[in-house]
Amino acid sequence: MISLLRRYLRKYLWETVANVVFVIAQVLLQLQVVSMTKVILNKGVKVGDVPVIVNTSVVMLLMTLAMGVSVVIASYMSSRVTACVTFDLQEDIFKKIVSLSQYDYSRFGGSTLMTRATSDVSNIQLFLLNFLRSCLLVPFVIVGLIIATAMISLGLCAILVVAFALTIAFMVLKSKQSIPPFNEYRSSLDRLNVLMREKIEGARSIRAFGRRQYETEKFDAVNRESVDVSLEADYRIYFLTPVALIIMNVAVVVIYYLGSIELQSQIVSISDLILFFQYVTYFISSLALIPFLVNTLPKVVVSVARIREVLDFEETIVNDPKTAPARCDGEITFKNVIFGYDGAKDVIADISFHAKPGTTTAFIGATGSGKSTIMYLLDRMYDPTFGEIFVDGVDVRDMDLEALRSRISFASQKTLVLQDTVYNNIAMGDETITRDDAKACCDVTMFSEVLDHLDNGLDSEMAQGGMNVSGGQKQRLSLARAIARDAEIYVFDDTFSALDLKTEAMVRKSIKERLAGRTVIMVAQKISTIRDADNIIVLEKGRIAAQGTHGELLATCPVYQEIYESQDYGQEGGEANG
Ligand SMILES: Nc1ncnc2c1ncn2[C@@H]1O[C@H](COP(=O)(O)OP(=O)(O)O)[C@@H](O)[C@H]1O
Ligand SMILES: [Mg+2]
Repeated sequence: MISLLRRYLRKYLWETVANVVFVIAQVLLQLQVVSMTKVILNKGVKVGDVPVIVNTSVVMLLMTLAMGVSVVIASYMSSRVTACVTFDLQEDIFKKIVSLSQYDYSRFGGSTLMTRATSDVSNIQLFLLNFLRSCLLVPFVIVGLIIATAMISLGLCAILVVAFALTIAFMVLKSKQSIPPFNEYRSSLDRLNVLMREKIEGARSIRAFGRRQYETEKFDAVNRESVDVSLEADYRIYFLTPVALIIMNVAVVVIYYLGSIELQSQIVSISDLILFFQYVTYFISSLALIPFLVNTLPKVVVSVARIREVLDFEETIVNDPKTAPARCDGEITFKNVIFGYDGAKDVIADISFHAKPGTTTAFIGATGSGKSTIMYLLDRMYDPTFGEIFVDGVDVRDMDLEALRSRISFASQKTLVLQDTVYNNIAMGDETITRDDAKACCDVTMFSEVLDHLDNGLDSEMAQGGMNVSGGQKQRLSLARAIARDAEIYVFDDTFSALDLKTEAMVRKSIKERLAGRTVIMVAQKISTIRDADNIIVLEKGRIAAQGTHGELLATCPVYQEIYESQDYGQEGGEANG
């Protein structure tokens, strides 16, 4: 935990040092003010010297003012440092998350990444702010008090030291014990988050299927579990504050007792003893910080560990560029590629094909036959278990990841719509894509029909997740995004499934014209989508059943014939099962 904080605090060294300096000033001034009561007592009250009383009081007042200024400066510094560190931390986590490959992302899971990036960060933020602002005081107060009280009476000071030591030992022990339940609590929050997201996103289906009762019960169970774990964790630290206060109060009683003995035997004077108790009172008031420390420390230890897990994660897909392809024509070769998710059962096996530059290659096969997996491998979201993939003659593992992905424009099966304007949804930050380009691409994919109905054309806002457009309209928007990019290879993973046949035919035709001369990979379940392709690859259970043109396959491949017949091509265009 300390190493993470140190890493982030280093950048704000000056502010942190200033914070510490003003915290120390605060403690010294406070101790000084307290010690001046003795001056008033001995030199003022005892001998009835009014000017001494007045002068000392004025000095005390000035010191208190200076203390106030120190508090303000220290607070400002601590707020500044905390805000900057939180910003940096969140930025690093965000960068890391977006750089994760599909594989690594799914190994974590979206929900836990979300809680780590938000609630775990705010745990750290809260802790850091309070630590810099007040907890940092505690060690200085302790050291200052030990020195100040030791000068009065070593014996009484020893009692204080024992009390401090006991309190701190007890705190450390209890905090340590509560780390495992807090860890469990964060994981249960992750699970709760998964369910919450599922329920909110699927609210409509849940209602439609009349599963509200069932889903609510499922949610309640996880929610209750989370409450139990949280109570269990809190239970471990309940006793801390009372025990700390009991120790300190017992110490006070002992000090009273021994103090009175020392007074009688004239080891200390009455004014010394009064001063001593002033110090003890000051200390007990700063003990009020302990509940806070104890409550947050275990939580923050867990949160820091969870964040480190993300930040220090070693990615499975390693960017290790060795060769840059000498040409840019979009040639793709798969050689005996085998792959299984999580190293488990092979999802695809022995995939070999060659896509010549400028041609269209299509993949067809049942759901789950491994079509999308092949596209992910091409885009290097995963690496094959065995075999090689070449783009423009270079193994994709030897190419710079960014460079590889900039060669490939990928329209994924899962349509992505950002909560932003239509133009930004298409350009995605690529400044080379002008508004005219974006408009032209909307024309090609017939998203223009939708644009015409929106109030602000390209500047119209899309709702989160594209809630204000239909499934087919979303596909047209993501198609427009894919073709707007200037790439060598265009991948369309099942991106026509939600279009009606007539629209699909028109969109496909205009996309074909726009992408003439580029390498295109088309994934589909409908034969109508891919029948014109130069090469059609039929997948069955992760293996290539056959490849060839529509005519060849129809004549020789039983799997293809079956698909063809199931889609009823008696009438031209036919009906599709998209
Ligand atoms: N992230 C994943 N983790 C584990 N298995 C997966 C994952 N994605 C897909 N699969 C499995 O891989 C197989 C092929 O999936 P996919 O390539 O998406 O098929 P298709 O695109 O042809 O419908 C399926 O059996 C699916 O269950
Ligand atoms: Mg798929």
